[in-house]
Amino acid sequence: MHILVIYYSQTGQLKKILTTLFEQNTDVEVDYVPIIPVKDFPFPWKAHQFFDAMPECVLQIPEEIHPLKIPNKRYDLVVLGHNPWFLSPCLPINSFLKSSQASILQNQKVLTVIGARNMWLNAQEQVKADLVSLGALLVGNIVLVDPRPNLISVLTIIRWTFKGIKEKTRLLPEAGIPEEEIKRVKDYGSIIIQTLKSQQWPSLQEKLLAQKAVVVQPGLVVLEKRGITNFRKFAAKIIAKGKRGDSARKPLVTLFQRLLVVGVFILSPISNFTAWLSTQVNRKALAKKINYFQGVGFEKDSL
Ligand SMILES: Cc1cc2nc3c(=O)[nH]c(=O)nc-3n(C[C@H](O)[C@H](O)[C@H](O)COP(=O)(O)O)c2cc1C
Repeated sequence: MHILVIYYSQTGQLKKILTTLFEQNTDVEVDYVPIIPVKDFPFPWKAHQFFDAMPECVLQIPEEIHPLKIPNKRYDLVVLGHNPWFLSPCLPINSFLKSSQASILQNQKVLTVIGARNMWLNAQEQVKADLVSLGALLVGNIVLVDPRPNLISVLTIIRWTFKGIKEKTRLLPEAGIPEEEIKRVKDYGSIIIQTLKSQQWPSLQEKLLAQKAVVVQPGLVVLEKRGITNFRKFAAKIIAKGKRGDSARKPLVTLFQRLLVVGVFILSPISNFTAWLSTQVNRKALAKKINYFQGVGFEKDSL
C-alpha cells in the first residue's frame, strides 16, 4: 500500500506533523512531496510582504509552482497538508490546487491535515470546493491548532512570523502547536493505516473525531465569518490597484495592516463579547455548523 503526502510547510511545523503521523507505521510506503513556489516566501516575513499577500490568498489567485516530483505509483490515499493564510488556503496550496498538476487527485481518496494558529474553517471549505471540482473524495480531516488563548497566540505568532522566534520568552509562551499535540497524531496515523487495510472509509472521520482530531470553538466560527467577510472587501479594493508586490497597492495594504491591528488588539474585547453573545443566541444553528465543520461533507457557502 502507498500513501502520497503533498504539502507546503514554510517553517517545517506542518511537515513535522505529517512525518509524525506515519512515524510508527511499517506496513505502508509513504512518499512526501513538497510544493515549491517559483517565487518562494521569505521567513521571517517583512511586514509589508506579509500583509501584501492577503488579497491573492483571499481571492485565491494562483502563482507559479515548480513541477511536483511525484513517483510514478498507484496511491491508495493522498494526504494533503495545507495551512490557512489570511483565513484562506495558503498561496502555494491554492496554486497547486488550481494547476494542471492537481489532476493527480482525480478519483483519489484524500485526507487533509491542517496545522494552524486557530482559524482554519474557511481555508478548509475552499479546499473542499477545489477537491469536489477535481473529482477527489475527501475521506478525512485532522486539524492541529495552537491551544493557547486567541490573543496570546496572536502575540506569539507575530513574534515568530516577523522575528523568527518560536521559543518561549520571558513574557510569552512558545509559538505554534505544542510538541505534545504533535505527538498525538501518531494515534491518527494508526487509525488511517487500519482504515487502509479494512477499506472502511465512510467511518474514518468518525474514528478520528472520537480521538479529538478536529475541535471547533463556537466563538471562532463567528469571528472567522466576520473576518473573511471584511478580508474579501479589502482584497477586492487592493487587487484593483495591481498585483502582489506593486507599489500602487502600498497605501491600501498599509491601511489594511493598521485596521487589522486595531481590530485584533483594540476591538477584540468587544468582538469577543458579541461573538460569545451570538453563540448563546444561535446555539442550535451553531451546533449544527460545528458538526458540519468537523465532518468531510461539502455544502457551498457554509461559513
Ligand atoms: C501569511 C500567513 C497567514 C496566516 N494566517 C493564518 C490564519 O488565517 N489562520 C490561522 O489559524 N493561522 C494562520 N497562519 C499560521 C499558519 O497557518 C501556520 O500555522 C504557520 O504558518 C506555520 O505553518 P508552516 O508549517 O507552513 O510553517 C498564517 C501564517 C502565515 C505565514
